[in-house]
Amino acid sequence: MSESKKFDLVVLGGGPGGYTAAFRGADLGLSVCLIEKGNRLGGVCLNVGCIPSKTLLHGALVIEEAQEAADFGITFNKPEIDLEAMRAKKESVIKKLTDGLDGLVKARKITRITGNGVFQDQESLKVTTAEGDSVIGFKNAIIATGSRPFALPGQPEDSRIWDSSDALRLDFIPGRLLIIGGGVIGLEMAQVYSALGSEITIVEMLDQLIPPADKDMVQPLFQKLKKIYTIMTNAKVTKITAEENAVKVVIEHKEKEETSEYDAVLIAVGRKPNSEEIGLDKLGITTSSRGYIEVDEQQRTSAATVFAIGDVVGDPMLAHKATHQGKVAAEVCAGHNSAFSALAIPAVAYTNPEVAWMGFTEKEAKEKGIEYDKGKFSWGASGRALSSGAAIGASKVLFSKETGRIIGAAICGLNGGELIHEAVVALELGADAEDISKTIHAHPTLSETFAFACEMVDGSITDALPPKKKK
Ligand code: NAI
Repeated sequence: MSESKKFDLVVLGGGPGGYTAAFRGADLGLSVCLIEKGNRLGGVCLNVGCIPSKTLLHGALVIEEAQEAADFGITFNKPEIDLEAMRAKKESVIKKLTDGLDGLVKARKITRITGNGVFQDQESLKVTTAEGDSVIGFKNAIIATGSRPFALPGQPEDSRIWDSSDALRLDFIPGRLLIIGGGVIGLEMAQVYSALGSEITIVEMLDQLIPPADKDMVQPLFQKLKKIYTIMTNAKVTKITAEENAVKVVIEHKEKEETSEYDAVLIAVGRKPNSEEIGLDKLGITTSSRGYIEVDEQQRTSAATVFAIGDVVGDPMLAHKATHQGKVAAEVCAGHNSAFSALAIPAVAYTNPEVAWMGFTEKEAKEKGIEYDKGKFSWGASGRALSSGAAIGASKVLFSKETGRIIGAAICGLNGGELIHEAVVALELGADAEDISKTIHAHPTLSETFAFACEMVDGSITDALPPKKKK
C-alpha cells in the first residue's frame, strides 16, 4: 500500500454533486482529491441518466413532431431509424460533456483518482485502483456516492430484462416492451421506445402515473398516452420468467391475474442509495432504514469531518439538488457559513407534454392542512399553445391564504420543464399573485399561461372569465 497523502477535501463520487463539490472546494482555495470508480466523471446523470435520456428523447420528439405536423398540412414520409447513428450521437454528447469535466478538473489542479474508496476512519480512505491500494488522508470528506436502480425480488438475470442503464444502451427495439413503474424513468423510456416502434405496456402500482405530482396535472399527458400505450394503474407484476422466445410476466390487475409475453421488460421502480461498502461503520455513521445518510442543513453527517450530498442523503434524487448541496458542503469545508435552504426543488418529467412541478402540490398542501388559493389556466385557451400544436396542457399555481405568497406550481405542457423556473424564482423571492400578474409577459408565449393562472387568483384575468367570488 502506498504512503498516505493528505488533502483539505476528498470527495468520494464524481457525479454532478461530487464534481460540483470538488470544483467549488478548489475555487475556494482547498487542496482537493476527487475519487471516482468509473473511468468517466459525471456519474449516472451524464453517463447513464439525464443526458443520454434527453438525447434519445430529443430524437423521439422529432419523430412525434413530424407525425403531428400533418395537422398543419405537412406530411413527412415514415422516418428511417439508424440505431447505430442514434447511439453514436448519444455517445458523442456524453463524451463532449465528460471531456469538458476532465478539462475543468485539470484547470483547477484537482487530484483525480480512478478507483474505489472506502473510509478507514474520520481522517483517511483506502483507495483501490488498477495500480494497487493507497491511503488518502483528509481534513474533510464529502460522500457523493449516488444511487442505483431497485431490482424486483426474484427478478431473473436476462438480457431482455432491463434497468434504466440497459434501456439507454439501445441494444435493440423490442416489438412489445413492458415497463414496470409509471414514474419519470418509465415514462421517458416509454416515449423513446414508442417513437422507435415498440408497443408499450405500463404497469404502475399506485393509482396514477408520476405519483408525486397532482393527478390533474398529469391528466393531459395520461389522456394522450392512454390512446397509444396500454396503461394499468393499481396493478402489480407478481412473476417474471425469462423463456426462450419471450419474457413471461404475470400481472395482477382489477383483482385478476393475467400472463402476457413481452420482448423486453424495463424495471423502473425507483432507486436506492449507494451507502453500503464505503466504510460508514468506520465513521460511526448509521443510515436510515432505507439506507440514506442523515445530514443537517450544512450537509454534515454525524461524523465531525464528513459531509454527504445528493441521492445518498435521500429524496428527491435529482442532479440539481445534488449540485446545490455539493456547493454548500464545499463552502462549509472552506469555512463559510453556508446552508442548504432552498425553498423549492423543481421536478420535471421530460415527457411530451412535459410535467413539471415545484413547491407544494395540492395534495401535499391538503395533507398538511395549508389553506391556499388556486389558479389554473388551460392551454386550450392560449394563442401560443394553439398555434404551436401544444393545446394539451395546463398551468396551475397555489398561493397561501395566510401570507398571499406563492407556495407551489405545476405546469403540464410543451417546455413545462423550462417554464416552471419562473414559479421557482417567484417562490424564492416571496411573490404574491398581484406581483406576478403585474409582471408583463410577452404575447404570445407559453409563459403567459403561468401569469394567467396567477391572474385567476388576483382576480384580474381577462383571457378567461374570472372565477366567481365566493359569497
Ligand atoms: P420513480 O420513483 O419516479 O417512479 C417509480 C414508480 O414505480 C412509482 O410510480 C412507483 O409507484 C412505481 N412502483 C414501485 N414499485 C412498483 C412495483 N413493484 N410495480 C409497479 N410499480 C411500482 O422512480 P424511477 O422512475 O425509477 O426514477 C428513479 C429516480 O431517478 C427518481 O427518484 C427520479 O427523481 C430520478 N430521475 C429523475 C428524472 C428527471 O428528473 N426527469 C429522470 C429519471 C430519473
